[in-house]
Amino acid sequence: ARLVVLVSGSGTNLQALLDAIAADPDGYGATVVAVGADRTGIAGLERAERAGVETFVCRVGAYGTRAEWDRALTEATAAYEPDLVVSAGFMKIVGPEFLARFGGRIVNTHPALLPSFPGAHGVRDALAYGAKVTGCTVHFVDDGVDTGPIIAQGVVEVRDEDEEDGGTALHERIKEVERRLLVDVVGRLARHGYRIEGRKVRIP
Ligand code: GRF
Repeated sequence: ARLVVLVSGSGTNLQALLDAIAADPDGYGATVVAVGADRTGIAGLERAERAGVETFVCRVGAYGTRAEWDRALTEATAAYEPDLVVSAGFMKIVGPEFLARFGGRIVNTHPALLPSFPGAHGVRDALAYGAKVTGCTVHFVDDGVDTGPIIAQGVVEVRDEDEEDGGTALHERIKEVERRLLVDVVGRLARHGYRIEGRKVRIP
């Protein structure tokens, strides 16, 4: 399967995918054909370049309207003819044109146990709420924010000392689980295909 991976930051989830593919290029079932970002100067783009993967950047500020950005992101992504789009720490909500083009084929990873704590601050929100466990969710993207059908989840304990650093250590522990979950899910979707039936995802 052809993957386009979208990033906005350090790209450790992207790196986990690149490493899994490099470790088993024939067996993993997917290749990263391009990495897209909403900003320049991030480690995620450097990781792609080091791996010899083409990159593209669509900055919202470079377009007059959000709809024009949505179109540009859609066209830049479509140029690589992806089978799956993987949003791995991509911090923008994709628009209606992107969803119309790739809906049902966009996988996102979120650092909380959806439906709890959706949005851009899931780790911090779980900590502030006093949750005793949190974790990460890999799901298909629909027209909501972190509301699409759930594919897999991983649980991470919240520790008392997590209060002290505003969630940084907790997020790192979540990312350790998240990277493994994302690599496992993307590989299975790529190798076995899948069906989305309402809120359920079936992987034969
Ligand atoms: C991940 O935890 C992702 O779920 C969240 O931001 C983090 C991105 O990490 N949205 P990275 O860029 O993959 O290292």
